[in-house]
Amino acid sequence: MPVRHLRFDVLTIFPAMIAGPTQESIVKRAVEAGLLTVRVHNIRDFASDKHHTTDDTPYGGGAGMVMKPEPVFLAAEHALAEAKSAGECGDDSAIVLLTPQGRLFTQDVAAELAERRHIVLICGRYEGVDERVREHLATDEISIGDYVLTGGELPALVVLDAVARLVPGVLDAESLAEESISSGLLEYPQYTRPASFRGWTVPDVLLSGNHAAIARWRRQQSLLRTLRRRPDLLARAELTPEDRKFLDSLRSEPG
Ligand code: ADE
Repeated sequence: MPVRHLRFDVLTIFPAMIAGPTQESIVKRAVEAGLLTVRVHNIRDFASDKHHTTDDTPYGGGAGMVMKPEPVFLAAEHALAEAKSAGECGDDSAIVLLTPQGRLFTQDVAAELAERRHIVLICGRYEGVDERVREHLATDEISIGDYVLTGGELPALVVLDAVARLVPGVLDAESLAEESISSGLLEYPQYTRPASFRGWTVPDVLLSGNHAAIARWRRQQSLLRTLRRRPDLLARAELTPEDRKFLDSLRSEPG
């Protein structure tokens, strides 16, 4: 099977915010391994006036500044052309505007984006972005949660990280398969040495060497945690008849 490759172009007026996190750890290794390309473009470089202005006051008045459309369009067109000449995009690049008004980012959205070859991430700033960017440039708008950040840089990094790790080869296949959130449940508790730390001991079953018992305990802990902390996830989780029996026994427990 040919190696899949994903290219990200991040458009921002604060390129240093993107550069650091994408030059560390797993993303860095994936870039070095040729699985990912990450390019950062300073929107300011595409502003035509002497002061490289990227924002202006809103038509109609009111407080705050609005990001101008021209430099954002030019930066995006530059990124698309560069990706094309590098042979790193098809005709279906995703152009994602990070905004609190977007659709909510979830693992399913990450999986959907990980199927792409090319993703452009536009980091909005200030009080907003000219509406023509949404209407005529962005193909998608994403919010990472119901809270307001000072800009789209951290959300872009969140999306980049969550999508990058789903590209085949970026993580070892086993850790992805074992990961519980993709099966719809929360992770079971993990322990490492020492077996007793300040008097707090590791559950006996994990030291037993009984792999079937360990697997059963982990599954039950995942179910228990999900029921207690995120019962909303259970409705969509893939559950076996044994899982359901266990959950029923918990629900019928007093307290
Ligand atoms: N920009 C500011 N806040 C944001 C959020 N929660 N998600 C995406 N982009 C944003």
